[in-house]
Amino acid sequence: EVGGFSDFMSKEIDEQPRSLRDTLAGRVDQEGRISLDELNITQEELKTIQKVVIVGCGTSLHAGMVARYALEHFVRVPVEIDVSSEFRYRDPVLSPTTLVVGVSQSGETLDTMVALSEAKASGAKTLVVSNVVGSSMARMADAVLYTRAGPEISVASTKTFIAQIGALEILALYLADLKRTLYPSEVNELIGRLNAVPEAISVALSQIKEYERVAQRLLGYDRFYFIGRNVGYPVALEGALKLKEITYTPSEGYPAGELKHGPIAMIDEQAVVVAIAPKGALYEKVLANVEEVRARGAKVVLVVNEMPAGHMASDDDVFLVPQVHQLFSPMVDVVPLQVLAHYTSVARGLDPDRPRNLAKTVTVE
Ligand code: F6R
Repeated sequence: EVGGFSDFMSKEIDEQPRSLRDTLAGRVDQEGRISLDELNITQEELKTIQKVVIVGCGTSLHAGMVARYALEHFVRVPVEIDVSSEFRYRDPVLSPTTLVVGVSQSGETLDTMVALSEAKASGAKTLVVSNVVGSSMARMADAVLYTRAGPEISVASTKTFIAQIGALEILALYLADLKRTLYPSEVNELIGRLNAVPEAISVALSQIKEYERVAQRLLGYDRFYFIGRNVGYPVALEGALKLKEITYTPSEGYPAGELKHGPIAMIDEQAVVVAIAPKGALYEKVLANVEEVRARGAKVVLVVNEMPAGHMASDDDVFLVPQVHQLFSPMVDVVPLQVLAHYTSVARGLDPDRPRNLAKTVTVE
């Protein structure tokens, strides 16, 4: 038992509103100007950035994938994203107008570290998002943006994922302000929307018992497929990663539109499909994909902002989450998926904090 919680993972899930609030706090001054931590890149240099490349592993990669949508939408800059261990060996095209962003909770993951140092050697600007002050990557990169999640003990990342997304959203708004791709009033409006997210996470957390009741009904199933579109896609990947990490249940994340290109062949009565469907332009599209898997016998679970009247079957289950700005929705939508993984792990008599075969920090190739 840890501070009233059964394990570190449940404690860290509970700490998420604070983790995000602390990460966002103090980043905006009286004039509404955003500030970053250790930025040894001049504003003039940042204004010339033509391309952003994001690298990371595991959960940190998923946070980077979420940020890509905000960077492209708010900053209108092309964004590439790659797994650190692939990027290193790819002969990537970089220049002094490329910003390479490494995302790493520990700041020590070797693959991300080498990716960043090679990017730096090739003349690109480098920035790291890290949760550990003075970590190897923080010392090496040109700029650091710290998440302020506090130490994360559980091997499975939760509160640092949300904090990483928060920090990267701040970076996107900072660049949008600098490059004037958004008006200052728009930046301010978006900062307000971002500052509302910790409270939305608290509201989601107040539903934990509901989420656990759903998780309990899913205990007998064999396989899980998480599907989403746009920012819902990295949430799907993260939901699948959490579940496989701490419960060893076969689980995959897919872009919802890819189902019919192969994965749908796997769907039967033993499969659960968890669909991430926040309100927004692609809501109906995701629900249409849900129809396809329901027709093939899958157990359907929807992550939605309200009961989707007319789009549900009687044995569907629902994780209700509060609605926030669509680009910020992963920070809220991931919560029931973390709870699903945690509940399943404990119900099966496993230790969610110490999954087999995994280390918290991977400092080997
Ligand atoms: C997932 C998890 C791992 C890490 C990955 C990167 O729950 O913990 O996938 O996210 O090993 O670690 P960092 O962020 O320290 O570079």
